[in-house]
Amino acid sequence: MEPLKITIKKEIFNDAYLPQLQNYQSRFNVYYGGAGSGKSHFVVQKMILKYLEFPNRKCLVIRKVGNSLRDSIFELFKTVLSDWQLLNRCEVKDSLLHIILPNGSIFIFKGLDDSEKIKSIANIDDIIVEECTEIDKQEFSQLGLRLRSKNPYNQIHVMFNPISKSNWVYEMWFQNGYDSSDTVVIKTTYKDNKFLPDDYINALLKMKETDPVYYRIYALGEFASLDKLIYTNWEELDFNWRELMKERPYVIASFALDFGYINDPSAFVAMIGDLVHKEIYIFDEFYEKGLMNDALAQKIIKKGYGKEIIFADSAERKSIDEIKKYGVPRIKPAKKGKDSIINGIQFLKQFKIYVHPSCVNTIEELKNYAWKKDKITKEYINVPIDMYNHCLDAARYGAQGFKIGNTTYDRKIYGKGKGVIRIGKTKRGGKVF
Ligand SMILES: Nc1ncnc2c1ncn2[C@@H]1O[C@H](COP(=O)(O)OP(=O)(O)O)[C@@H](O)[C@H]1O
Ligand SMILES: [Mg+2]
Repeated sequence: MEPLKITIKKEIFNDAYLPQLQNYQSRFNVYYGGAGSGKSHFVVQKMILKYLEFPNRKCLVIRKVGNSLRDSIFELFKTVLSDWQLLNRCEVKDSLLHIILPNGSIFIFKGLDDSEKIKSIANIDDIIVEECTEIDKQEFSQLGLRLRSKNPYNQIHVMFNPISKSNWVYEMWFQNGYDSSDTVVIKTTYKDNKFLPDDYINALLKMKETDPVYYRIYALGEFASLDKLIYTNWEELDFNWRELMKERPYVIASFALDFGYINDPSAFVAMIGDLVHKEIYIFDEFYEKGLMNDALAQKIIKKGYGKEIIFADSAERKSIDEIKKYGVPRIKPAKKGKDSIINGIQFLKQFKIYVHPSCVNTIEELKNYAWKKDKITKEYINVPIDMYNHCLDAARYGAQGFKIGNTTYDRKIYGKGKGVIRIGKTKRGGKVF
Protein backbone atom coordinates (compact mmCIF):
# COMPACT_ATOMS: atom_id res chain seq x y z
CA MET A 1 0.00 0.00 0.00
CA GLU A 2 1.11 3.52 -0.79
CA PRO A 3 2.41 5.38 2.21
CA LEU A 4 -0.13 7.74 3.63
CA LYS A 5 0.74 11.39 3.36
CA ILE A 6 -1.34 13.89 5.21
CA THR A 7 -0.83 17.54 5.93
CA ILE A 8 -2.43 18.92 9.02
CA LYS A 9 -2.62 22.60 9.85
CA LYS A 10 -1.82 23.92 13.26
CA GLU A 11 -5.10 25.84 13.28
CA ILE A 12 -7.14 22.72 13.76
CA PHE A 13 -5.82 22.48 17.33
CA ASN A 14 -6.53 24.69 20.29
CA ASP A 15 -3.31 26.45 21.30
CA ALA A 16 -3.44 25.44 24.95
CA TYR A 17 -2.99 21.83 23.96
CA LEU A 18 -0.31 22.16 21.29
CA PRO A 19 2.66 21.60 23.62
CA GLN A 20 1.19 18.17 24.40
CA LEU A 21 0.69 17.07 20.82
CA GLN A 22 3.96 15.20 20.60
CA ASN A 23 4.45 14.46 24.23
CA TYR A 24 4.85 10.70 24.03
CA GLN A 25 6.96 10.51 27.15
CA SER A 26 4.61 11.19 30.07
CA ARG A 27 2.98 7.99 31.19
CA PHE A 28 0.05 9.77 32.87
CA ASN A 29 -1.68 12.55 30.97
CA VAL A 30 -4.38 14.23 33.02
CA TYR A 31 -6.75 16.58 31.22
CA TYR A 32 -9.26 18.27 33.48
CA GLY A 33 -11.18 21.50 33.80
CA GLY A 34 -14.40 23.08 32.62
CA ALA A 35 -16.98 21.72 30.24
CA GLY A 36 -16.49 22.14 26.51
CA SER A 37 -12.85 23.08 26.86
CA GLY A 38 -11.84 20.71 24.08
CA LYS A 39 -10.26 18.02 26.26
CA SER A 40 -11.84 15.07 24.53
CA HIS A 41 -11.38 16.51 21.07
CA PHE A 42 -7.70 17.12 21.64
CA VAL A 43 -6.90 13.74 23.16
CA VAL A 44 -8.58 12.09 20.18
CA GLN A 45 -6.61 14.26 17.75
CA LYS A 46 -3.35 13.53 19.52
CA MET A 47 -3.89 9.79 19.71
CA ILE A 48 -4.92 9.50 16.07
CA LEU A 49 -1.74 11.32 15.05
CA LYS A 50 0.36 9.14 17.33
CA TYR A 51 -1.25 6.03 15.88
CA LEU A 52 -0.75 7.20 12.31
CA GLU A 53 2.91 7.62 13.12
CA PHE A 54 3.37 4.24 14.82
CA PRO A 55 1.94 1.14 13.12
CA ASN A 56 0.43 -1.87 14.85
CA ARG A 57 -0.32 -0.28 18.20
CA LYS A 58 -3.32 -1.06 20.31
CA CYS A 59 -5.21 1.55 22.29
CA LEU A 60 -7.97 0.77 24.75
CA VAL A 61 -10.58 3.52 25.03
CA ILE A 62 -12.49 3.17 28.29
CA ARG A 63 -15.59 4.55 29.90
CA LYS A 64 -17.35 3.24 32.95
CA VAL A 65 -20.46 2.23 31.04
CA GLY A 66 -20.03 0.69 27.60
CA ASN A 67 -23.32 2.04 26.31
CA SER A 68 -22.21 5.62 26.63
CA LEU A 69 -19.13 5.06 24.44
CA ARG A 70 -20.90 4.77 21.12
CA ASP A 71 -22.45 8.24 21.17
CA SER A 72 -19.52 10.00 22.75
CA ILE A 73 -15.88 9.24 22.14
CA PHE A 74 -16.36 6.55 19.47
CA GLU A 75 -18.33 9.09 17.45
CA LEU A 76 -15.65 11.70 18.12
CA PHE A 77 -12.93 9.45 16.67
CA LYS A 78 -15.02 9.07 13.53
CA THR A 79 -15.59 12.82 13.32
CA VAL A 80 -11.89 13.63 13.54
CA LEU A 81 -10.95 10.91 11.04
CA SER A 82 -13.61 12.22 8.70
CA ASP A 83 -12.39 15.85 9.11
CA TRP A 84 -8.96 14.61 8.11
CA GLN A 85 -10.42 12.69 5.17
CA LEU A 86 -9.18 9.44 6.54
CA LEU A 87 -12.37 7.77 7.61
CA ASN A 88 -12.93 5.87 4.39
CA ARG A 89 -9.40 4.49 4.57
CA CYS A 90 -9.99 3.08 8.03
CA GLU A 91 -11.81 -0.07 8.99
CA VAL A 92 -14.64 0.91 11.34
CA LYS A 93 -16.46 -1.93 13.04
CA ASP A 94 -19.57 -0.34 14.46
CA SER A 95 -20.83 -3.45 16.18
CA LEU A 96 -17.53 -4.29 17.88
CA LEU A 97 -16.59 -0.66 18.47
CA HIS A 98 -13.20 -1.03 16.80
CA ILE A 99 -11.43 1.43 14.54
CA ILE A 100 -8.42 0.19 12.60
CA LEU A 101 -6.15 2.71 10.87
CA PRO A 102 -4.58 1.96 7.45
CA ASN A 103 -1.28 1.06 9.17
CA GLY A 104 -2.90 -1.58 11.35
CA SER A 105 -3.01 0.44 14.56
CA ILE A 106 -6.26 -0.13 16.37
CA PHE A 107 -8.54 1.62 18.85
CA ILE A 108 -10.72 -0.70 20.89
CA PHE A 109 -13.63 0.87 22.81
CA LYS A 110 -14.80 -0.89 25.96
CA GLY A 111 -16.99 -0.21 28.95
CA LEU A 112 -15.57 -1.20 32.31
CA ASP A 113 -18.81 -3.10 32.83
CA ASP A 114 -17.25 -5.50 30.36
CA SER A 115 -14.28 -6.21 32.61
CA GLU A 116 -13.93 -9.88 31.66
CA LYS A 117 -13.53 -8.93 28.01
CA ILE A 118 -11.02 -6.26 28.89
CA LYS A 119 -8.93 -8.87 30.67
CA SER A 120 -8.75 -10.91 27.50
CA ILE A 121 -7.18 -8.10 25.47
CA ALA A 122 -3.40 -8.56 25.44
CA ASN A 123 -0.55 -6.19 24.63
CA ILE A 124 -2.21 -2.88 25.20
CA ASP A 125 0.06 0.04 24.26
CA ASP A 126 -2.07 2.97 25.38
CA ILE A 127 -5.22 3.66 27.35
CA ILE A 128 -7.70 6.53 27.23
CA VAL A 129 -10.15 6.91 30.09
CA GLU A 130 -13.00 9.25 29.21
CA GLU A 131 -14.86 10.78 32.21
CA CYS A 132 -12.30 9.29 34.54
CA THR A 133 -14.19 10.33 37.71
CA GLU A 134 -16.85 7.74 36.83
CA ILE A 135 -14.53 4.84 37.58
CA ASP A 136 -12.96 4.14 40.94
CA LYS A 137 -9.37 4.13 42.03
CA GLN A 138 -9.06 0.37 42.04
CA GLU A 139 -10.40 0.10 38.54
CA PHE A 140 -7.90 2.72 37.44
CA SER A 141 -5.01 0.88 39.08
CA GLN A 142 -6.09 -2.35 37.42
CA LEU A 143 -6.07 -0.61 34.05
CA GLY A 144 -2.61 0.78 34.76
CA LEU A 145 -1.31 -2.72 35.36
CA ARG A 146 -2.45 -3.71 31.90
CA LEU A 147 -0.16 -1.14 30.31
CA ARG A 148 3.13 -2.95 29.87
CA SER A 149 3.55 -3.77 26.22
CA LYS A 150 6.94 -4.14 24.54
CA ASN A 151 6.37 -1.04 22.44
CA PRO A 152 7.75 2.27 23.68
CA TYR A 153 5.70 5.30 24.72
CA ASN A 154 3.00 3.60 26.73
CA GLN A 155 0.60 6.29 27.86
CA ILE A 156 -2.61 6.76 29.77
CA HIS A 157 -4.77 9.77 28.95
CA VAL A 158 -7.62 10.68 31.26
CA MET A 159 -10.24 13.40 30.96
CA PHE A 160 -12.72 14.69 33.54
CA ASN A 161 -14.49 17.62 35.16
CA PRO A 162 -13.44 18.33 38.77
CA ILE A 163 -16.73 17.27 40.34
CA SER A 164 -15.62 16.53 43.89
CA LYS A 165 -12.61 16.56 46.12
CA SER A 166 -13.89 13.30 47.58
CA ASN A 167 -13.31 11.67 44.22
CA TRP A 168 -10.05 9.68 44.08
CA VAL A 169 -8.66 11.81 41.24
CA TYR A 170 -8.21 14.69 43.67
CA GLU A 171 -6.07 12.68 46.04
CA MET A 172 -4.19 11.13 43.11
CA TRP A 173 -3.03 14.25 41.28
CA PHE A 174 -3.98 17.38 43.22
CA GLN A 175 -3.91 17.03 46.98
CA ASN A 176 -0.15 16.66 47.27
CA GLY A 177 0.83 17.51 43.72
CA TYR A 178 2.08 14.89 41.27
CA ASP A 179 5.31 13.39 40.03
CA SER A 180 6.28 15.52 37.04
CA SER A 181 8.77 12.91 35.84
CA ASP A 182 5.94 10.74 34.58
CA THR A 183 2.81 12.89 34.76
CA VAL A 184 1.41 16.01 33.11
CA VAL A 185 -1.70 17.74 34.35
CA ILE A 186 -3.40 20.11 31.94
CA LYS A 187 -6.21 22.37 33.07
CA THR A 188 -8.42 24.04 30.46
CA THR A 189 -11.73 25.90 30.39
CA TYR A 190 -14.13 27.20 27.76
CA LYS A 191 -11.64 30.06 27.24
CA ASP A 192 -9.18 27.60 25.74
CA ASN A 193 -11.57 26.35 23.06
CA LYS A 194 -11.87 28.62 20.05
CA PHE A 195 -14.41 26.29 18.45
CA LEU A 196 -17.13 26.76 21.07
CA PRO A 197 -20.30 28.50 19.92
CA ASP A 198 -21.28 31.67 21.81
CA ASP A 199 -24.55 30.13 22.95
CA TYR A 200 -22.66 27.43 24.77
CA ILE A 201 -20.43 29.96 26.51
CA ASN A 202 -23.39 32.13 27.48
CA ALA A 203 -25.19 29.16 28.99
CA LEU A 204 -22.08 28.35 31.02
CA LEU A 205 -21.72 31.91 32.26
CA LYS A 206 -25.37 32.14 33.21
CA MET A 207 -24.81 29.45 35.81
CA LYS A 208 -22.87 31.93 37.89
CA GLU A 209 -26.18 33.13 39.29
CA THR A 210 -28.37 30.08 38.94
CA ASP A 211 -25.97 27.45 40.22
CA PRO A 212 -22.66 28.61 41.68
CA VAL A 213 -21.35 25.08 42.27
CA TYR A 214 -21.94 24.10 38.65
CA TYR A 215 -20.38 27.37 37.59
CA ARG A 216 -17.23 26.66 39.54
CA ILE A 217 -16.87 23.18 38.12
CA TYR A 218 -18.04 23.55 34.53
CA ALA A 219 -17.13 27.16 33.74
CA LEU A 220 -14.07 27.79 35.92
CA GLY A 221 -12.90 24.18 35.96
CA GLU A 222 -12.27 24.27 39.71
CA PHE A 223 -12.87 21.47 42.16
CA ALA A 224 -16.20 21.90 43.88
CA SER A 225 -18.62 19.35 45.23
CA LEU A 226 -21.57 17.94 43.37
CA ASP A 227 -21.99 15.53 46.25
CA LYS A 228 -24.77 16.10 48.69
CA LEU A 229 -23.09 18.19 51.35
CA ILE A 230 -23.79 17.47 54.98
CA TYR A 231 -23.67 21.03 56.24
CA THR A 232 -25.27 23.81 54.22
CA ASN A 233 -26.25 25.82 57.29
CA TRP A 234 -23.05 27.84 57.46
CA GLU A 235 -21.29 30.90 56.12
CA GLU A 236 -18.01 32.69 56.47
CA LEU A 237 -18.21 35.77 58.68
CA ASP A 238 -15.55 38.16 59.89
CA PHE A 239 -16.47 38.67 63.53
CA ASN A 240 -14.69 39.56 66.73
CA TRP A 241 -15.38 36.83 69.24
CA ARG A 242 -14.44 38.94 72.23
CA GLU A 243 -16.94 41.61 71.20
CA LEU A 244 -19.52 38.94 70.60
CA MET A 245 -19.04 37.61 74.10
CA LYS A 246 -19.40 41.07 75.56
CA GLU A 247 -22.54 41.84 73.57
CA ARG A 248 -24.17 38.54 74.38
CA PRO A 249 -23.01 37.64 77.87
CA TYR A 250 -25.08 34.47 77.94
CA VAL A 251 -23.18 32.66 75.17
CA ILE A 252 -21.09 29.57 75.88
CA ALA A 253 -17.57 28.97 74.64
CA SER A 254 -16.59 25.43 73.91
CA PHE A 255 -13.35 23.80 72.79
CA ALA A 256 -12.70 20.46 71.18
CA LEU A 257 -10.04 18.19 69.77
CA ASP A 258 -10.07 15.35 67.27
CA PHE A 259 -6.97 13.16 67.30
CA GLY A 260 -4.89 12.27 64.29
CA TYR A 261 -1.25 11.53 63.83
CA ILE A 262 0.33 10.18 60.66
CA ASN A 263 -2.38 9.99 58.03
CA ASP A 264 -4.96 12.29 59.55
CA PRO A 265 -4.34 15.63 61.18
CA SER A 266 -5.16 16.46 64.76
CA ALA A 267 -7.85 19.12 64.60
CA PHE A 268 -8.80 21.61 67.27
CA VAL A 269 -11.70 24.06 67.16
CA ALA A 270 -12.80 26.87 69.43
CA MET A 271 -16.40 27.93 69.20
CA ILE A 272 -19.16 29.94 70.78
CA GLY A 273 -22.74 28.80 71.10
CA ASP A 274 -25.63 31.22 71.24
CA LEU A 275 -28.49 28.98 72.27
CA VAL A 276 -31.00 31.80 72.23
CA HIS A 277 -30.48 32.67 68.58
CA LYS A 278 -29.45 29.13 67.68
CA GLU A 279 -26.10 30.23 66.34
CA ILE A 280 -22.61 28.78 66.56
CA TYR A 281 -19.52 30.88 65.92
CA ILE A 282 -16.33 28.97 65.13
CA PHE A 283 -13.51 31.40 65.83
CA ASP A 284 -10.27 29.48 66.06
CA GLU A 285 -8.71 26.21 64.93
CA PHE A 286 -5.54 24.33 64.42
CA TYR A 287 -5.01 21.45 62.05
CA GLU A 288 -1.76 19.57 61.89
CA LYS A 289 -0.34 16.14 61.20
CA GLY A 290 2.38 14.44 63.19
CA LEU A 291 1.76 16.13 66.54
CA MET A 292 2.61 14.02 69.59
CA ASN A 293 0.53 14.54 72.71
CA ASP A 294 3.04 16.87 74.38
CA ALA A 295 3.11 19.05 71.26
CA LEU A 296 -0.70 19.01 71.13
CA ALA A 297 -0.86 20.19 74.74
CA GLN A 298 1.68 22.91 74.00
CA LYS A 299 -0.34 24.17 71.04
CA ILE A 300 -3.50 24.36 73.13
CA ILE A 301 -1.70 26.19 75.93
CA LYS A 302 -0.01 28.60 73.50
CA LYS A 303 -3.34 29.49 71.99
CA GLY A 304 -4.53 30.40 75.47
CA TYR A 305 -7.04 27.59 75.94
CA GLY A 306 -5.04 25.46 78.35
CA LYS A 307 -7.42 26.12 81.23
CA GLU A 308 -10.62 25.43 79.34
CA ILE A 309 -12.72 22.33 79.23
CA ILE A 310 -11.79 20.59 76.01
CA PHE A 311 -13.95 17.82 74.61
CA ALA A 312 -11.76 15.24 72.92
CA ASP A 313 -12.29 12.10 70.88
CA SER A 314 -13.23 9.49 73.47
CA ALA A 315 -11.59 6.70 71.45
CA GLU A 316 -8.22 7.95 72.70
CA ARG A 317 -8.38 7.85 76.48
CA LYS A 318 -4.65 7.40 76.75
CA SER A 319 -3.93 10.53 74.72
CA ILE A 320 -6.44 12.47 76.80
CA ASP A 321 -4.71 11.41 80.02
CA GLU A 322 -1.31 12.30 78.60
CA ILE A 323 -2.43 15.75 77.47
CA LYS A 324 -3.88 16.27 80.93
CA LYS A 325 -0.44 15.50 82.37
CA TYR A 326 1.18 17.92 79.94
CA GLY A 327 -0.75 20.85 81.41
CA VAL A 328 -4.29 20.85 80.04
CA PRO A 329 -6.09 19.63 83.15
CA ARG A 330 -9.70 19.94 82.02
CA ILE A 331 -9.52 17.99 78.76
CA LYS A 332 -12.08 15.18 78.84
CA PRO A 333 -13.61 12.53 76.59
CA ALA A 334 -16.65 13.57 74.57
CA LYS A 335 -19.65 11.32 75.15
CA LYS A 336 -19.99 8.78 72.42
CA GLY A 337 -23.26 6.89 72.26
CA LYS A 338 -24.88 4.74 69.65
CA ASP A 339 -25.36 6.76 66.44
CA SER A 340 -23.34 9.57 67.94
CA ILE A 341 -22.09 10.73 64.54
CA ILE A 342 -25.55 11.12 63.04
CA ASN A 343 -26.99 12.58 66.21
CA GLY A 344 -24.11 15.03 66.50
CA ILE A 345 -24.57 16.09 62.89
CA GLN A 346 -28.31 16.55 63.37
CA PHE A 347 -27.62 18.65 66.44
CA LEU A 348 -25.17 20.94 64.62
CA LYS A 349 -27.58 21.25 61.70
CA GLN A 350 -30.09 22.96 63.98
CA PHE A 351 -27.79 25.95 64.29
CA LYS A 352 -26.69 28.62 61.89
CA ILE A 353 -22.92 28.24 61.90
CA TYR A 354 -20.67 31.23 61.30
CA VAL A 355 -17.01 30.51 60.62
CA HIS A 356 -14.25 33.05 60.96
CA PRO A 357 -12.26 33.37 57.69
CA SER A 358 -9.07 32.45 59.56
CA CYS A 359 -10.45 28.93 60.11
CA VAL A 360 -9.49 27.79 56.63
CA ASN A 361 -9.50 24.08 57.38
CA THR A 362 -12.94 24.13 58.94
CA ILE A 363 -14.20 26.01 55.87
CA GLU A 364 -12.54 23.55 53.50
CA GLU A 365 -14.20 20.68 55.33
CA LEU A 366 -17.62 22.31 55.37
CA LYS A 367 -17.34 22.73 51.59
CA ASN A 368 -16.55 19.07 51.08
CA TYR A 369 -17.99 16.91 53.87
CA ALA A 370 -20.60 14.85 52.06
CA TRP A 371 -23.04 11.95 52.41
CA LYS A 372 -22.20 8.54 51.00
CA LYS A 373 -24.09 7.00 48.11
CA ASP A 374 -25.23 3.43 48.14
CA LYS A 375 -22.98 1.51 45.73
CA ILE A 376 -25.87 -0.26 44.05
CA THR A 377 -28.89 2.01 44.26
CA LYS A 378 -26.82 5.21 43.94
CA GLU A 379 -29.13 6.78 46.51
CA TYR A 380 -27.65 8.88 49.27
CA ILE A 381 -27.54 7.07 52.58
CA ASN A 382 -27.40 8.41 56.11
CA VAL A 383 -23.67 7.81 56.41
CA PRO A 384 -21.01 10.46 55.85
CA ILE A 385 -18.01 9.85 53.60
CA ASP A 386 -15.06 9.44 55.93
CA MET A 387 -13.16 12.46 54.61
CA TYR A 388 -13.14 16.17 55.40
CA ASN A 389 -14.29 15.45 58.91
CA HIS A 390 -11.49 16.34 61.30
CA CYS A 391 -12.42 19.89 62.35
CA LEU A 392 -16.04 18.89 61.91
CA ASP A 393 -15.74 15.90 64.22
CA ALA A 394 -14.14 18.23 66.75
CA ALA A 395 -17.06 20.62 66.30
CA ARG A 396 -19.42 17.74 67.04
CA TYR A 397 -17.59 16.99 70.27
CA GLY A 398 -17.50 20.66 71.18
CA ALA A 399 -21.23 21.00 70.64
CA GLN A 400 -21.68 18.85 73.72
CA GLY A 401 -20.91 22.02 75.59
CA PHE A 402 -24.13 23.48 74.15
CA LYS A 403 -26.45 20.57 74.77
CA ILE A 404 -29.57 21.25 76.71
CA GLY A 405 -29.45 19.21 79.82
CA ASN A 406 -30.61 19.57 83.37
CA THR A 407 -28.06 22.12 84.44
CA THR A 408 -28.92 25.22 86.38
CA TYR A 409 -27.85 27.24 83.42
CA ASP A 410 -30.09 25.49 80.94
CA ARG A 411 -33.13 25.62 83.20
CA LYS A 412 -32.69 29.32 83.58
CA ILE A 413 -32.91 29.86 79.86
CA TYR A 414 -35.33 27.22 78.78
CA GLY A 415 -37.33 26.54 81.90
CA LYS A 416 -39.60 28.60 84.05
CA GLY A 417 -37.80 31.86 83.60
CA LYS A 418 -38.64 31.84 79.84
CA GLY A 419 -36.46 34.20 77.93
CA VAL A 420 -34.77 35.48 81.03
CA ILE A 421 -31.11 35.10 80.53
CA ARG A 422 -28.89 34.90 83.53
CA ILE A 423 -25.23 34.41 83.81
CA GLY A 424 -24.02 31.51 85.80
CA LYS A 425 -21.85 28.44 85.73
CA THR A 426 -22.81 25.37 83.80
CA LYS A 427 -22.08 21.99 85.30
CA ARG A 428 -21.54 20.38 81.97
CA GLY A 429 -18.50 21.66 80.18
CA GLY A 430 -18.47 24.87 78.33
CA LYS A 431 -18.23 28.11 80.12
CA VAL A 432 -20.79 30.76 80.73
CA PHE A 433 -19.54 34.28 80.43
N1 LIG B 1 -9.80 21.17 17.70
C1 LIG B 1 -11.14 21.23 17.54
N2 LIG B 1 -11.66 21.35 16.30
C2 LIG B 1 -13.01 21.43 16.13
N3 LIG B 1 -13.90 21.40 17.14
C3 LIG B 1 -13.43 21.31 18.37
C4 LIG B 1 -12.03 21.22 18.65
N4 LIG B 1 -11.86 21.13 19.97
C5 LIG B 1 -13.10 21.14 20.50
N5 LIG B 1 -14.04 21.26 19.56
C6 LIG B 1 -15.48 21.29 19.76
O1 LIG B 1 -15.80 21.96 20.97
C7 LIG B 1 -16.79 21.25 21.69
C8 LIG B 1 -16.29 20.86 23.06
O2 LIG B 1 -15.17 20.05 22.95
P1 LIG B 1 -14.96 18.73 23.82
O3 LIG B 1 -13.72 18.09 23.37
O4 LIG B 1 -16.20 17.91 23.84
O5 LIG B 1 -14.77 19.39 25.25
P2 LIG B 1 -14.60 18.69 26.69
O6 LIG B 1 -14.23 17.28 26.45
O7 LIG B 1 -13.52 19.49 27.32
O8 LIG B 1 -15.90 18.86 27.38
C9 LIG B 1 -17.18 20.06 20.86
O9 LIG B 1 -18.31 20.36 20.11
C10 LIG B 1 -15.97 19.86 19.98
O10 LIG B 1 -16.31 19.24 18.80
MG1 LIG C 1 -15.18 15.56 27.15
